[in-house]
Amino acid sequence: MKILIRNIKALLQVDKGDRKKVCGEKMSDLPVLDDAYLFIDKGMIKGYGRMHELKESPYGKYEGQSDVHEIDASGRMVMPSFCDSHTHIVYAGSREIEYIDKIRGLSYEEIAKRGGGILNSAKRMQEASESELIDSALERLEEVRLLGTGAVEIKSGYGLTTQSELKMLRVIRRLKELSPITIRSTFLGAHAVPAEYKGRQGEYVDKVIEEMIPLVAGENLADFIDVFCDRGFFTEEETDRILMAGVKHGLRPKIHANELDFSGGIQVGVKYNALSVDHLEFTGEEEIKALLESDTMPALLPGAAFFLEMEYPPARRMIDSGLPVAMASDYNPGSSPSGNMQFIMSLGCIKMKMLPEEVINSVTINGAFAMGLEDELGSIAEGKKANLIITRPIPTYAFIPYAYGSNKVDIVITEGRIS
Ligand code: NIG
Ligand code: FE
Repeated sequence: MKILIRNIKALLQVDKGDRKKVCGEKMSDLPVLDDAYLFIDKGMIKGYGRMHELKESPYGKYEGQSDVHEIDASGRMVMPSFCDSHTHIVYAGSREIEYIDKIRGLSYEEIAKRGGGILNSAKRMQEASESELIDSALERLEEVRLLGTGAVEIKSGYGLTTQSELKMLRVIRRLKELSPITIRSTFLGAHAVPAEYKGRQGEYVDKVIEEMIPLVAGENLADFIDVFCDRGFFTEEETDRILMAGVKHGLRPKIHANELDFSGGIQVGVKYNALSVDHLEFTGEEEIKALLESDTMPALLPGAAFFLEMEYPPARRMIDSGLPVAMASDYNPGSSPSGNMQFIMSLGCIKMKMLPEEVINSVTINGAFAMGLEDELGSIAEGKKANLIITRPIPTYAFIPYAYGSNKVDIVITEGRIS
């Protein structure tokens, strides 16, 4: 299907497809074309320009043609859809009981120690059928798609047995076929130590390395490998061993690090050329230095810091030091039960003092980089996938993070489908 979007008040994040990520002070630059058109064919961006150039352009001939779907975007903005580079969207059952425990004063770690948390989700995961998991995840994917998300990374990690981890990854593989959203999958066998391995953590790590990783790689079930490298979960040494095995099997690391403490996770991620290191609430000068010397994307998840009422990562210090920053939702039943990237943008501005341009870069081009999709998504460029957002009429793009809690997305286009 051919789509011509006309009279776009502002077309955000336009480029030639040559920017892979934006770092440091460049994060406050947002390339914008005012009074623009955009032409889409077969789900791909074919071209864009200023309205007054449309007639003379190769797309002028499509105006008013019956096989071309025309959208008048007067007063509205168009931007690439959000690239949410960190989610746990496949899960069985919600955990609002723990939410109440949390309101009553228990911490995330205390809840986990009592067998709640990730182990609670793991128990339910083992009982759930693939079709139940697919149906509930598809519902969540559709919810976030309508809120503007066009690409999502999804992790395993609620399995914690070989069979159950493989089940989760097969579910994600099926979601890749069923959902119009672009999906990348991550093997997170080392998300928590299962109850039956309590006191024998090393044996579980051996099992992840010797049994799970070869099977996951053999079936080509994951694009990336993750470890929860943090206090009370997996140590720096264990993470090192797991990542080394993953890399040997062709899985690039994308890890949870420094959410609960200075865990050494950032450094071990950088050592293995991680695509991203995520969370980073505990980040100091040493960690920033390690990241500056790497190609690893720091991915911040302010939804988890908000929900758990913890310190936010020092986004301002990172950007001012020259680093790039991506933001993702961490959509999961325990620490961030929302995949609303518009709210994540508001948290970026309000809680982490990022500028509107910086949050837009962090959830588009840098989010795409954090899941290896920067050549396909993340900006408005000829030849990229036309996964786009058309906003409601809004005064400026700063209105998107400013008007927190309300939906600024009017129409989404995903793989050429208009919703
Ligand atoms: O990213 N930090 C580790 N894992 C998830 C939480 C998962 C859960 O509590 O179910 C996170 O916050
Ligand atoms: Fe997470």
